[in-house]
Amino acid sequence: MLYYKIMKNNNKSRLLSGVKPTGRPHIANYFGSMKQFVDLQSDYQALIMVADLHALTTVWDADTLRRDIWDLALDYLAIGLDPEKVVIFRQSDVAEHTELTWVFNCITSVPYLMRSHAYKDASAKNQEVSVGTFDYPMLMAADILLYDPQVVPVGQDQKQHVEYARDTAEKFNRLFGETFTLPEGLILSGVQTVTGLDGRKMSKSYNNHIPLFSEPDQVVALVKKIVTDSKDPSEPKDPETCNIFALLKLFAGEGELSELRQRYRDGNIGYKESKEILAEKIIAYFEPMRKKRKEIAARPELVHQILSEGAKATKDLAAAKMDTVRKRVGLEF
Ligand code: TRP
Repeated sequence: MLYYKIMKNNNKSRLLSGVKPTGRPHIANYFGSMKQFVDLQSDYQALIMVADLHALTTVWDADTLRRDIWDLALDYLAIGLDPEKVVIFRQSDVAEHTELTWVFNCITSVPYLMRSHAYKDASAKNQEVSVGTFDYPMLMAADILLYDPQVVPVGQDQKQHVEYARDTAEKFNRLFGETFTLPEGLILSGVQTVTGLDGRKMSKSYNNHIPLFSEPDQVVALVKKIVTDSKDPSEPKDPETCNIFALLKLFAGEGELSELRQRYRDGNIGYKESKEILAEKIIAYFEPMRKKRKEIAARPELVHQILSEGAKATKDLAAAKMDTVRKRVGLEF
């Protein structure tokens, strides 16, 4: 009933996004995309997906996938997605995603898909790239285009995928008549890349990340590992090249930051203190989410209900869109 209200009684523009459930998210996932879902949830009619079919490209163990899906649903709720405002759903609950993918496969060329950064990276690492990995952009195009969203907030790494969706919408519209809305990617400035513990981009594959729901002692231990130069507390330092400071920027207010900047430049702070400040801030920032996550984890029936209502709401939209697609291409008579 909740979703009936969200979907019907709402003349806001539509937003769609999602995350692949493949292990625990880290703070770069949070600032790079998930936080935007929360910040934007009141301004749009938001559909937020657990992209479990995409996860299947890499997670080949049923128990692991099941757990990852469940964890991501909890994460969504814990970071503050409000089921009164947002439709949260599982990709695999709506079979139209795969059906539309097939249609897109048939109008898309192999060389065009070979230009995908994700495919190039995957094939550089492994010659035996799966068809699913190769086709990832078409499933993602289907995820998006089924619902005609105006905006698709994603992290920098997913930008090319939104372009694939736009191109595919254009191609389909050209071949079969106006059917799909061209979506816009939405990448908020300033949150595009989060620095990892070693100064490279924070990424699970570099193992330089801080998991989003780390317990306080884990945060302290990880922050201690942040790589710095070997300057003494009394030596002047450049905050803009400091890996600790790069993270502080995400958690401290403007006033506090300019004070810290000054202390860096004056040689009035050591890396040890700077790390203590950072760890404290990270712990405090995520404390309410950690608490909420535990509360929700204790109510699995609620999570099931949210996902099943999400499936119903999206299924209706997707089925209607897929009917149009079938008519356009000539698959009904
Ligand atoms: N590929 C995205 C990721 O890895 C997840 C995703 C799947 C997605 N389908 C989407 C994001 C559609 C936005 C829109 O995080």
